[in-house]
Amino acid sequence: MLAVLAATGTLQYFAERRQLVRAQAAAQVAAVRALAKACEEAMVENNDVAALNYFKAFRRTPALRSIAMAGPDLQYRLHSDALDGKGDWQSRSLGDGAAQRALAQADPVRAEDGGGVTWTMALSVRGKPAGLLRLEFDAAEMRRDIRGPLASSARRFLLVALCCLVLGVIGAAWLAERLVEPIRRLAEGARRYSEGKLEHRVDVGEKSELGLLADDLNRMAERLGEMDELKQRFFHQLTHDLRVPLSSIQGYLELLLSGKAGAISADQRSHLLQAEEGAQIVADFVDNILDLARMKGSAPMPEGGGCELGPVIQKAVDLVQVQAKRLGVVVDATFLEEPPAVKIPEQFVRRVLLNLLGNALKFTQAGGRVVVSAHRAHGIVMLEVRDNGIGIPADKLEKVFQDFYRVPETMPNLRGPAGVGIGLSICKMILEAHGGSIAVDSQLGKGARFTVALPIAPYIAAPGPNGPESPARGGVKA
Ligand SMILES: Nc1ncnc2c1ncn2[C@@H]1O[C@H](COP(=O)(O)OP(=O)(O)OP(=O)(O)O)[C@@H](O)[C@H]1O
Ligand SMILES: [Mg+2]
Repeated sequence: MLAVLAATGTLQYFAERRQLVRAQAAAQVAAVRALAKACEEAMVENNDVAALNYFKAFRRTPALRSIAMAGPDLQYRLHSDALDGKGDWQSRSLGDGAAQRALAQADPVRAEDGGGVTWTMALSVRGKPAGLLRLEFDAAEMRRDIRGPLASSARRFLLVALCCLVLGVIGAAWLAERLVEPIRRLAEGARRYSEGKLEHRVDVGEKSELGLLADDLNRMAERLGEMDELKQRFFHQLTHDLRVPLSSIQGYLELLLSGKAGAISADQRSHLLQAEEGAQIVADFVDNILDLARMKGSAPMPEGGGCELGPVIQKAVDLVQVQAKRLGVVVDATFLEEPPAVKIPEQFVRRVLLNLLGNALKFTQAGGRVVVSAHRAHGIVMLEVRDNGIGIPADKLEKVFQDFYRVPETMPNLRGPAGVGIGLSICKMILEAHGGSIAVDSQLGKGARFTVALPIAPYIAAPGPNGPESPARGGVKA
């Protein structure tokens, strides 16, 4: 835009200058003709005084330096210097090339030297050549005469250009905003879809190509939403149908293991324990899928209060001990102080812990160690599940919380059956639905640390030996 304005300004400057030079030349020609006519009249009357008076009147013409009139012999007859009392003009004549050319034509002849411009015109009286008239203009003065109007025209142009520039910048910003806004909305829509928010619809407010693209994007989201719902319904139905026979299998296994249905040998016990562990894995999977379906809204979440964190952690650690021993991994729970009660129902805290512990065991080699710890920090409890297993590559850390995502690099070192990749996604949903959060910190080959933030539950102060400050165990208000 600036280049266009500069080019236009330069062109305008030279065009204006040429115009002014032409107008100046036309004014000089007009002055020469008018004075020549007056001189011819003075010659007819042989009245040099009248001619000198005309000289006097014309001397006011801008940039005019001198006026000279010569007779037919081309010797100076009158000169404007005479008006100033100078006399050195009388000896001079007008016999130069310009004079010769002027005598041969009716129009004034222009000649130029370094310091000035001369116009020479032939005079005639009653049709006969009577001499020459010459007007000499000062070149520097002529330039000055042009410079004034040129400068004011340049100022006008600059003002207009400045206005155009300001309007142009405002217009360009407005136009850019108009063009960018629909693209921004499309990008925002695509981002939300990538986060799984398929109910979002993109409206770019126009029927251009971008509007059509938005329609396509909306149709795609609708279709994906339908497929997602279908998938959830399918899993929900499947797991629901699995739950009942699975409970019965677990019940019978428990009965057999208790010995109430008859004595069992050590070998049989070991087989039954393996079968129970397998049934527990399937039960966990079924529970995860059912929770996922609930979280996604196709079934209501069960209501519940808060829970005491310490015992829940202990129970979860106890539950995985059999599996941990079989895998040769040590699982510990360490607290500096008893963790406080949290605002999340026990079943969900247990589900989160079992998922994290299950993962830690699945991805830690024999001889490894898994540590669960918890500490209070600014109104929340930070619960940590740390292992020294195979870890997760840095560029995959964000993805592990997505539905059905499994890190390809961890799969070859997996211990036990592969999951479907929803455990962490469920943990995230459970926690976010209850005001908590989850984060992971890991490097490939260096173990993983999952940190869960749980909101501390308000408690009813029970009168006791420690006073009203001590949390009332079991008195949790969710
Ligand atoms: N402690 C860990 N160490 C290394 N990788 C892990 C760990 N925890 C999770 N991961 C990686 O994150 C992926 C997703 O975990 P997530 O619990 O969601 O699924 P999963 O365990 O594979 O299957 P599911 O939990 O549904 O049985 C895992 O497949 C694994 O690649
Ligand atoms: Mg898992």
